Amino acid sequence: MHIAAITGTGVFTAPDVITNAELVTAYNAYADRWNAENAAAIEAGEEEAKAHSSEDFIVAASGIERRFVMDKEGVLDPARMYPRFRARADDAPSMMAEVAQDAIGKALAQAGVAAADVDLVICAASNMERPYPAVAVEIQDLIGAGGFAFDMNVACSSATFGIQAAADMIAAGSVRCAVVVNPEITSGHHEWRDRDCHFIFGDVCTATVLQRADDAKGAHFRILSTRCATQYSNNIRNNNGFLRRTRDQQEDRRDMQFMQNGRKVFKEVLPLVSDHMAAHMAEEGLAAEDIKRLWLHQANKSMNAYIGRKVMGREPDEAEQPNILQDYANTSSAGSIIAFSKYSDDLAPGDTGIICSFGAGYSVGSVIVERA
Ligand code: COA
Repeated sequence: MHIAAITGTGVFTAPDVITNAELVTAYNAYADRWNAENAAAIEAGEEEAKAHSSEDFIVAASGIERRFVMDKEGVLDPARMYPRFRARADDAPSMMAEVAQDAIGKALAQAGVAAADVDLVICAASNMERPYPAVAVEIQDLIGAGGFAFDMNVACSSATFGIQAAADMIAAGSVRCAVVVNPEITSGHHEWRDRDCHFIFGDVCTATVLQRADDAKGAHFRILSTRCATQYSNNIRNNNGFLRRTRDQQEDRRDMQFMQNGRKVFKEVLPLVSDHMAAHMAEEGLAAEDIKRLWLHQANKSMNAYIGRKVMGREPDEAEQPNILQDYANTSSAGSIIAFSKYSDDLAPGDTGIICSFGAGYSVGSVIVERA
């Protein structure tokens, strides 16, 4: 058996920024238009008027201050409220492959690895641009990697589940160098017209290079162990699969975008995650004082604060539990990897930390790493 290590990470940041102020202005203009168009039905009690969103609510409820997106103009157009993504020709790189190439380039440069030496690409994300050919195979071709590639989807836990799959293959010897890439173009499957969640998501792509620890050329993190768990829930759901056309041909159904029962998610996922992390630490023989850093999934600031307190047995400071949520919003599976990528260089050899994601499924994935 080999020891797997994380030898490089990379982040592609989407080109446009939307502040809460811009987002709320667009949403409120959309709500006003909708209320005017539906005035008679509202008057007759058949429809409920849409209330305004507020910047204060967004920051207080989530900790999010802005988000990056691939196309701001379409999202902020009150007559549209979703990004303007043009369908690309089959022989042009797909959007996911293009952003993946950027993030992977940065991660490979950090690891000092040539793309030709990569023998596994896992494209792990919460929504795919198409069902097949697998986006991962396109990415493999675009970067010039060898070996094989496949897509996987475990929603917000896609990155950690992908890391477990790659680390296990490296440990077993079937793969020597893997890239797990998370192109999270959430703006395409988000419902920007739903006041309860319109502020939640942003676009990004992260990439993680995994190798045998013996092959690492520079500073790296040994993977001590990984744990994945799932438990079925309908509280975060998106029905946009092949039934879209066979059901009733409607193109604009609410259930064809991200939907959640945010309150229930909040309450049910917290114990799931803190118990999962405590059990993983115990199995690894680690106590709270052994953990130098928590790189958590970035969905909600108070949720992360709660998990941090539970795991550490005290209030972790900002350096111990870095948040990137205020700048990137929820970027699905990429969130914990952005935090890891931006806030791990300063750890000393022997320092231990946990990358942990959680989300739809429900799913929880934790990766315990030690700075080599
Ligand atoms: N602007 C102003 N008010 C708003 C609002 C907005 N954009 N959205 C909701 N509100 C109102 C609600 O109408 C409600 O009003 P009421 O009390 O008069 O009924 C009130 O604010 C509270 O709404 P609620 O949805 O209960 O807020 P919350 O405190 O639960 O926060 C979330 C909402 C989504 C931020 C929070 O539940 C959360 O983060 N949950 C976990 C989400 C998660 O991890 N999802 C995983 C996604 S991958």
